[in-house]
Amino acid sequence: MNLYGRDFLKLLDFTPDEIEGLIELAATLKAKKKAGVPHRLCEGKNIALIFEKTSTRTRCSFEVAAHDLGMGCTYLDPSGSQIGKKESIADTARVLSSMFDGIEYRGYGQEIVEELAEYSSVPVWNGLTNEFHPTQILADFLTIKEIYGHLKGINFLYMGDARYNMGNSLMVGCAKLGLNFTACAPKKYFPNAELVKTCEKLAKESGGSITLTENPAEAAKGQNVVYTDVWVSMGEPDEVWAERIADLSPYQVNSKLMQATDNAIFMHCLPSFHDLKTTTGKLINEKFGIDCMEVTDEVFESPRSAVFQEAENRMHTIKAVMAGTLTKSL
Ligand code: CP
Ligand code: NVA
Repeated sequence: MNLYGRDFLKLLDFTPDEIEGLIELAATLKAKKKAGVPHRLCEGKNIALIFEKTSTRTRCSFEVAAHDLGMGCTYLDPSGSQIGKKESIADTARVLSSMFDGIEYRGYGQEIVEELAEYSSVPVWNGLTNEFHPTQILADFLTIKEIYGHLKGINFLYMGDARYNMGNSLMVGCAKLGLNFTACAPKKYFPNAELVKTCEKLAKESGGSITLTENPAEAAKGQNVVYTDVWVSMGEPDEVWAERIADLSPYQVNSKLMQATDNAIFMHCLPSFHDLKTTTGKLINEKFGIDCMEVTDEVFESPRSAVFQEAENRMHTIKAVMAGTLTKSL
């Protein structure tokens, strides 16, 4: 695998072998970290992290991974830079790539991170856009591989809002690596038709499949993995809550759904609204009278829940993306 100098903007840009190579590299780097073996593969380099939306996992993963690889790291928060307000993306890219060896970007439209990459002379990594969240999928697939030992042929069910970053990226990842992807949601939350078509073609090549359905009871049968995400994503207006709760409540991941699967594991990119321990969770409870949303607390806290293993794997996989794109010898 030679990814030296490449951007990491979306999984569609990578071959199945390259994606599998990154997952393998992440597993190797994870084993090294656990064994206390230093792996300062990028000694002396520096990276910039641009976050136009908030983050816990992605930011911490980039920072810890950068330190483990021997790199310096500068964080630019949603309000603390000139980006977008006083300086264009193209100018920002040229300034930052003259100082840093790699740039992470989290924000709104995919076209922004694509433009940043176009004008940057160093690798740009997508830390989440409205359309895609590719580093998350590497962590999810490393987790599935750790639990099931393989990816090909895994029956993967995505419940809920499938037309946003997580639904899109998981569908692409499954199509590339030969998993059987099912999205279960009301029709208006299906991924866009063009992307579905692309993924159907990819699935044919990889031996996977793409299914879209509105029926949770049918969808659950034979599944190995059940995945969901929040019903309202960062950057969406508060006004959509009522509609989302009405539309997506029948697609909540609960014990009844999990019992209809083939002893599936539960996965979620996090953060998740599974209890009333958040301010948003409390507000929604006061307004709509529900005590959880996309997943019940029972499923979230169950022994089949892999969410914290998945969260840890964000760091190991992001480390692999940086090491893979910043070094020649891997
Ligand atoms: N899963 C994920 O991207 O989490 P953060 O928003 O905390 O980075
Ligand atoms: N769909 C979510 C994913 C968070 C990791 C969002 O964009 O807010």
